Amino acid sequence: MTKKTVLVTGGAGFIGKHTVKALLNNNFNVVVADKKDVKEGEKGITCKYYSVDVTAEDFETIFKENKVDYIIHLAALPSVADSIKMPLVDCRDNYQATVNVCTIAKKYGVKKIVFSSTAAVYANPQYLPVDEKMYMVLVRIVSEKPELLLSFLT
Ligand SMILES: NC(=O)c1ccc[n+]([C@@H]2O[C@H](COP(=O)([O-])OP(=O)(O)OC[C@H]3O[C@@H](n4cnc5c(N)ncnc54)[C@H](O)[C@@H]3O)[C@@H](O)[C@H]2O)c1
Repeated sequence: MTKKTVLVTGGAGFIGKHTVKALLNNNFNVVVADKKDVKEGEKGITCKYYSVDVTAEDFETIFKENKVDYIIHLAALPSVADSIKMPLVDCRDNYQATVNVCTIAKKYGVKKIVFSSTAAVYANPQYLPVDEKMYMVLVRIVSEKPELLLSFLT
């Protein structure tokens, strides 16, 4: 059977490195896209590595050069503190990056994307353990204080 190819965005990061290792151990072809400038073979990178920003135009090169079956999207700025300090950078690397990954996935017929979100969407949870029924902060802001969201956007 031909091996399936998984594109791991943010594959040079903390979760990404473990994900890549697990995929390789389970017989997948792995392609990494990460804006960190490390080369294939360096720092434990043992698969095809593209040093690219997923919001940039040349991100698409990966799809021209590889038949990507699945995407695990981990490229992000995970720090909540940084998102408060640098909201526009955060918006680009988290929101715009995800939109771009989904847009290109659609263009190249990639049907499955795994997206790693963050527990921060729940802020201070109303109960534990957190489950899928719990209200997310953004939903709460939009429904209860739309003027707050509008003030960010205008
Ligand atoms: N670490 C955790 O405990 C944890 C828990 C829950 C969810 N998550 C989520 O998992 C994801 C990955 O977290 P992590 O801890 O591995 O973070 P990390 O910072 O270690 O790794 C993120 C990687 O993404 C890359 N990256 C960022 N923006 C990019 C862009 N625009 N283009 C290309 N590469 C880009 C960075 O260079 C980095 O290598 C995040 O979305 C985070 O919110 C992490």
